[in-house]
Amino acid sequence: MSGHGPRTWQQCDACGATHDELMAATRCPACNGLLAVRHAPSAHGAAELRRLFAEPCCARPGPLASGVWRFKELVLPTATAPVSHPEGNTPLLERPAVSAFSGVADLRLKHEGHNPTGSFKDRGMTVGVTQAVRVGATAVACASTGNTSASLAAYAAQAGLKALVFVPRDGIALGKLAQSLAYGARTLLVRGNFDDCLRLVEEASRELGVYLVNSINPFRLEGQKTIVLELLQQLGWEAPDWIAVPAGNLGNTAAFGKALVEAHALGLIDRIPRIAAVQAAGAAPFALGFAEGFAHRHTVKPETVATAIKIGDPASWDRAVRTMIDTRGVVLGVPDGEILEAKAVIDASGVGCEPASAASVAGVRRLVEAGVIEREARVVAVLTGHVLKDPGILLEYHREQEPAPPRANRPVEIEPALAAVEAVLRS
Ligand code: F0G
Repeated sequence: MSGHGPRTWQQCDACGATHDELMAATRCPACNGLLAVRHAPSAHGAAELRRLFAEPCCARPGPLASGVWRFKELVLPTATAPVSHPEGNTPLLERPAVSAFSGVADLRLKHEGHNPTGSFKDRGMTVGVTQAVRVGATAVACASTGNTSASLAAYAAQAGLKALVFVPRDGIALGKLAQSLAYGARTLLVRGNFDDCLRLVEEASRELGVYLVNSINPFRLEGQKTIVLELLQQLGWEAPDWIAVPAGNLGNTAAFGKALVEAHALGLIDRIPRIAAVQAAGAAPFALGFAEGFAHRHTVKPETVATAIKIGDPASWDRAVRTMIDTRGVVLGVPDGEILEAKAVIDASGVGCEPASAASVAGVRRLVEAGVIEREARVVAVLTGHVLKDPGILLEYHREQEPAPPRANRPVEIEPALAAVEAVLRS
C-alpha cells in the first residue's frame, strides 16, 4: 500500500491478506493467522522523528505526555482520542550490585514496573483499549497470568467498558488478583492454567462478541514497541548490543523485534541489537524450539515460581521466531533458583521487581558465563513488573523458607523495649 492507500491497516502474518484497521477480529478471517498492524512509511525523516519524540512531556497536551503516545507516529497515527492513564516514561537504571552480579559492567535496567498498574502491560493496554473504543466494543476480555488482567481492568474502567478477565485459579500472584478486583473487572478464576484460560477466552470472544485484548491482538504489540523506542531514546539512539527480556506468551519478544526492525528502517538506529529472550526453565517451550532451529513448535506442561511466565503454549510463537531471526537473537531457560537469586539481588539494590522480571538479569548472567554476551557489552535488561506484584513469594523467601536462603532478610520479633533494639543493633 502506498501514497494514496490507508495510513494504517492490518495484515495477516500467515497468508498476507490485508484488512481494514478497524476490523475487530483479532485473527485473520481468511486463515485464522495472527495479524500485524502496518503503517505507511512516516512522512518524517529520522531527525524530525527524533525531534518530535524528544519534545518535553510537560509541553504536551493530555495523552501526548504518555511514554506510549509521544511515539504515536509509529504506534497508531490514526488514533484521535487515546485512553491513556498516562503510562510509560519509565526509568533506565544503573545499579552496581546488579551489574556485578550479571557480569556486565554496562548493564541498564529498563523498569517497566513503574507503569501505572505496575507492569509493562499498560503500554499495550492503552493502545488495545483505545482500539476497543474505536471499533465500538462494549465489553473487553483477556486471559492472563495476572498483569494483563490488572492492566485491562484499569483501562476498561477508565474507558467505561465492561471487562471480563480469565485467570488461573491457582498461581495468580496476590497483588495482581487484588488489582483486578479493585479496578472492577468481572474476574473468572479458571480451574486450569494460563493456556486453558487463553483457549477459553478466544472461544468466548469469537462466540460472544467480546473484544479480545490479549497480546494476540496486534494493537497491543504496537504499544509494547515503545519499551524499545523509549530505551533507545534514553540511550541517545545509540543502540545497545543486547536487550534481555523475560519471555512467556512471547508478545513482548515479538513487539521488540518489530520495534527494532522499524526503528532501523527509519534510520533512528544504525544497527539492530540482539535480543535475549529468557524463559523459566520449567516453562521453556520457546527455548526448546530455539535449540533445534525452530524446526517444530513445542508445548510443555509449565512449572515455575515465576507465575507471570508460567506458560506452556505461547500464542505469539511465529512472531517471536521472526524476532529471533531479525535480531540474531538467543533463547534460554533459567532455573527458578537462579531467577530468585537474581531477584534477591535486584530487590536488595533498592530497585525491586517481581519474579518473572528477574529472569532477564538471570539470563544475562548465564549468557555471560557461556561467553555469548561479552563482559564489555552494552546491555539493557527489561524488568517487566513491580516488586509488590507478588508479596507472597517475598514473604516465603525472607521469612519462611527453611533453611534460610543465602540472601534472606529475616524479620526480627522483639519485646517493646529499647534494650531489645540495642541488642539487634549490636548483633
Ligand atoms: N514479565 C511479566 C511480569 C509478565 O506479566 C509477562 C506476561 C511476561 C514477563 C512475559 O511477557 O507474555 O509477552 O512473553 N504476562 C502475561 C499476563 C502473560 O497475562 O500478564 P510475554
